[in-house]
Amino acid sequence: MSDLQAAAKRAVGEHVASMISTGMTLGVGTGSTAAMAIEALGARIRNEGIQVKGVATSFAAERLARQHGIVLTTLDESPDLDLAFDGADEVDPAFILIKGRGAAQTREKIVASRAKQFVVLVDESKVVEALGYRMPLPVEVVPMAVAPVIQVLKRLGADPEIRMGKMKDGPVVSDQGMWVVDAHFEGIPDPRHVNDVLLKTPGVVDHGLFIDLATHLLIGRSDGGVDVLGRP
Ligand code: 5RP
Repeated sequence: MSDLQAAAKRAVGEHVASMISTGMTLGVGTGSTAAMAIEALGARIRNEGIQVKGVATSFAAERLARQHGIVLTTLDESPDLDLAFDGADEVDPAFILIKGRGAAQTREKIVASRAKQFVVLVDESKVVEALGYRMPLPVEVVPMAVAPVIQVLKRLGADPEIRMGKMKDGPVVSDQGMWVVDAHFEGIPDPRHVNDVLLKTPGVVDHGLFIDLATHLLIGRSDGGVDVLGRP
């Protein structure tokens, strides 16, 4: 990450932390941008004594939230969240997202869907005119169903590959014990169609298209400024 990108991520992290007030129940996102928000929120907890609870979207987010003094809860205890924050890999003009570079998309979507406000934190490089040219679409799959799901993805026009571990032989295993197939498209012209097909495919647990979930988009600029947009 360049210094300019880090500055942009820090700016949106600090901005969303300033939107949080005492008593809120939060969704705590995964990834380097969400980490900036967790850090900034931790500083407010330490310096101002605000009290919040959070549902983590991954084991990684859980560990980081704990380190920064965020009290953890679960959807069993707190099914309705005031605000969830998370990063994204791509966001289009209709606020449809691709998420899941960190393979956390299934929990991230569950948590986002329970939040009154879902605040998406990106730098300018993530804002695209059309989805799926730069980033693959992660699809979380029950391991025994990987071959049939790959067939479905090919019929949708994708070039799918099983995500492999780094410093670990074999596939990446998600926090749910599933595999992730990265579907490389030459653009996704109709994300709603891809969503419908995938959710009807047995063996697909969930995927990284987030449709009609984001309520706010914070775009961090390299000069440290933040553009705040509401869903169109
Ligand atoms: C993890 C995600 C991340 O939120 C997304 O990949 C953005 O990550 P980063 O802020 O590190 O660029 O979806 O599954």
